[in-house]
Amino acid sequence: NKVGVVIAAAGQGKRMGHNINKQFLPLLGKPILYYTIKAFADWGKAAEIVIVLNNKEIDYFKKKIKALFSYSAQKNLSLVSGGKSRKESVYNGISSLNDNISYVLIHDGARPLIKKFLIESTYQAVKKHKAVSCGVKVKDTITLVEDSISQQTLNRDKLRAIQTPQAFELDLIKKAHHSYDKDKALDDASLVELLGEKVYIVDGDYNNLKITTAEDLKPAEVILKERR
Ligand code: CTP
Ligand code: MG
Repeated sequence: NKVGVVIAAAGQGKRMGHNINKQFLPLLGKPILYYTIKAFADWGKAAEIVIVLNNKEIDYFKKKIKALFSYSAQKNLSLVSGGKSRKESVYNGISSLNDNISYVLIHDGARPLIKKFLIESTYQAVKKHKAVSCGVKVKDTITLVEDSISQQTLNRDKLRAIQTPQAFELDLIKKAHHSYDKDKALDDASLVELLGEKVYIVDGDYNNLKITTAEDLKPAEVILKERR
């Protein structure tokens, strides 16, 4: 029962508003994407780690990130090119996995603070539940707004903010991607839900931040520093 990892890193990082892709920005001197890959490499159970990248950033990646890993860790990494949407990028990643792989963990390149315990609990859960997502309880009250008027305040206890990794039986996530080609706004777990399959939610980690805007860089560095 081999497990593969797909790291989606082929975005543009528009909300970061920087001239280089956000995933190459440094945290304590090393690129964001380096930490993300290192977490899965150190986990040690992945038969293959696929990094999905923009074509034009592949050379830069090899020089600035891949080169930071040991020779044996590098042998476990493969690179594929991304698509216009995250969904297309993930699709390219899962399609490239070897046929002997049964499960895949899909993770955002922009979540470098992922810890081993969460990778492991997602992996253990997928062996039982076939489709797994991780989520944290929301701390703020969430309300639906239309024309500046609150329409409905949702029950916070039932809400989860969804993170990655998400994990699936490889055949199931491939089927989900094939069934819903056009809808670009959905994450992998919601594609599986549309098939009528249950997605099991494991407890995520509030520190598993997604680096999205410039405000996210400082807290990420504080968390990393604390772990040293
Ligand atoms: N991603 C991807 N391919 C795309 C779009 C996104 O692989 N076509 C990846 C990003 O690189 C990121 C993850 O999906 O690691 C989560 O997406 P997001 O945080 O939205 O990153 P970006 O799309 O790069 O940022 P923005 O939306 O601000 O442009
Ligand atoms: Mg995006």
